[in-house]
Amino acid sequence: MYDFKIEAADTATLYRDIASALEGLLAGEPDPIANMANAAALIFESLPDVNWVGFYRNVGGELVLGPFQGRPACIRMTFDQGVCGAAAKSRQLQRVEDVNAFPGHIACDSASRSEIVVPLIRDGEVIGVLDIDSPKPARFTEEDEGGVVKLGEILSRVL
Ligand code: SME
Repeated sequence: MYDFKIEAADTATLYRDIASALEGLLAGEPDPIANMANAAALIFESLPDVNWVGFYRNVGGELVLGPFQGRPACIRMTFDQGVCGAAAKSRQLQRVEDVNAFPGHIACDSASRSEIVVPLIRDGEVIGVLDIDSPKPARFTEEDEGGVVKLGEILSRVL
């Protein structure tokens, strides 16, 4: 059983603790589905005010739903669709304070109000994205960006 109980006092420490737990969880395991599943569960359990955490994988140039925590979600997106598509196409983290104001946002859970998506890049290829949604408007800050980028770096190495 894994029982991480991550309750950090500040955002930077929180992400450091999640990153360290993630490294431990993924160490030595080569199976990407197992790793994505555990990563989604760890992040979902550890970050406050999130309602969806999961992966879309680049399968033949399309983003296809991977392991996640939260409500059932849209299965496929092109690189021209949604916040996830924008992250994959631009290869840049997307932090959206109001998803309803984002052109082309795909609403999987109508409770979602804000979102952060980091592209996962390995050997120059976008292998997928990590998508984190919140029911709170403007839930994610620049500090979250730094933390989520770090999680994305770990995940890109091991998925
Ligand atoms: N909101 C995403 C779609 C995926 S769900 O939120 C899980 C987007 O527009 O990229």
